Amino acid sequence: MSITNDVQRQTLTDETSTFPTTFLWGAATSSYQIEGATHEDGRGQSTWDVFTATPGKTYHDETGNVAVDHYHRMPQDVELMAHLGIGAYRFSLAWPRILPDGKGSINIRGLDFYDRLVDALLAKNILPVATLYHWDLPIALYNEGGWLNRDTAYAFADYAEVVARQLGDRVSMWITHNEPWCSAYLGYGAGTHAPGMQDMQAAVTVGHHLLLSHGLAVPRLRTHTKAGTQVGIALNFTPVYPADDTPETAQSVERTDTFTNRWFVEPIYKGAYPEHLFEDIGVKPPPVQENDLGVIATPIDFLGVNNYSRMVVRSNPSKPSGVEFVAPVPGASYTEMGWEVYPQAIGSLLTRLHKDYHVPSLLVTENGAAFDDTVGDDGEVSDPRRIEYLREHIRVVGRVLAQGVPVQGYLVWSLLDNYEWAEGYSKRFGIVYVDYATQKRIIKESGHWYAAFIASHKQE
Ligand code: GCO
Repeated sequence: MSITNDVQRQTLTDETSTFPTTFLWGAATSSYQIEGATHEDGRGQSTWDVFTATPGKTYHDETGNVAVDHYHRMPQDVELMAHLGIGAYRFSLAWPRILPDGKGSINIRGLDFYDRLVDALLAKNILPVATLYHWDLPIALYNEGGWLNRDTAYAFADYAEVVARQLGDRVSMWITHNEPWCSAYLGYGAGTHAPGMQDMQAAVTVGHHLLLSHGLAVPRLRTHTKAGTQVGIALNFTPVYPADDTPETAQSVERTDTFTNRWFVEPIYKGAYPEHLFEDIGVKPPPVQENDLGVIATPIDFLGVNNYSRMVVRSNPSKPSGVEFVAPVPGASYTEMGWEVYPQAIGSLLTRLHKDYHVPSLLVTENGAAFDDTVGDDGEVSDPRRIEYLREHIRVVGRVLAQGVPVQGYLVWSLLDNYEWAEGYSKRFGIVYVDYATQKRIIKESGHWYAAFIASHKQE
């Protein structure tokens, strides 16, 4: 065996020694980003179908109508997961595929797809991790006000029950929402995501109804799923670092952190919105009704953590927000998304979440990187930067785990190159390359690395 392999194996062994054999190694995707078949088998339309069909909203006006055709290629994709040896697969259910009108009649063919997916995963000993909502709101509900309408929170709880009744005997890890911060701020504040509104007052109302829907759905899931089921939520976090040590920058860090990282986690784990959040944003508080926050703080079993990078800020009164986002940071490297590669951030984040919110269990539900991947003359995809990104972030997760932070798993974003929302197909996050013209899957070098890493861990 060459020195290189010895070193690589030693490195792998070093890194895997801190992880218990029960640690979940997996990958994540979402329905609109991979399924395609957006007009098939009775699926209703979502806000993302309408948004992406609107000229000028996405890169080259690209849509998820085909995506990576997972709806038709699911069995092969599950075979691919088994080949990689992943232990858990996080996917999302398309609400409009199951309830085309968002409520009322159930589309059996839509529900059947997820039945088959779950059975295929279990047949390969892959743990299904089901996300109920990854942004594809049925357009019928949007036309009744969507998340601005409090009734949608109750419709979500009903949807949760429909799915739990069907899959609850086999799915034991449930995530209510993926990144409600993105749904609220990007969808209603910045307007860069569906439905494309730019109204921060609307954004905080949407955020509140998303949180309320989470709290309403938890007991429905618990009632209709098997014993030992874990229920959680996946929130996105980006740790904020100061560019200098001035008091003004310290204040900029605090305000940016409150808006970026505390807005959603604190109602869930503290039963209250962060103090100063709404005045910092310049809006009135959302329409909170009596006991809403008690519902939102319904105890859950784990916190899903989506993290990719950090941000560095300094005070700059000439900016509308008074905050300047510093990039590039001297000496730093960046992904294709313009996100700094800074593995330490995930460690400080997990440590903070455990310390500040006493989270009983954490699951890294997304971590990964987009790089400009190409197929070589040998037909392979060499992506050493992604290997380094994954290896270093996993190393940091292992360190905080050894320090007592209760992390139960790591799910790489993403299994497959896929539709990156407003960026269309221009950004590749997969450990498996997809040739969008042919839908051919090619395991990238990082996919082979991850498979070897997982296998070496299983040998422990
Ligand atoms: C998100 C979503 C994913 C993205 C991924 C890369 O975090 O925005 O959960 O759908 O594709 O994070 O941006």
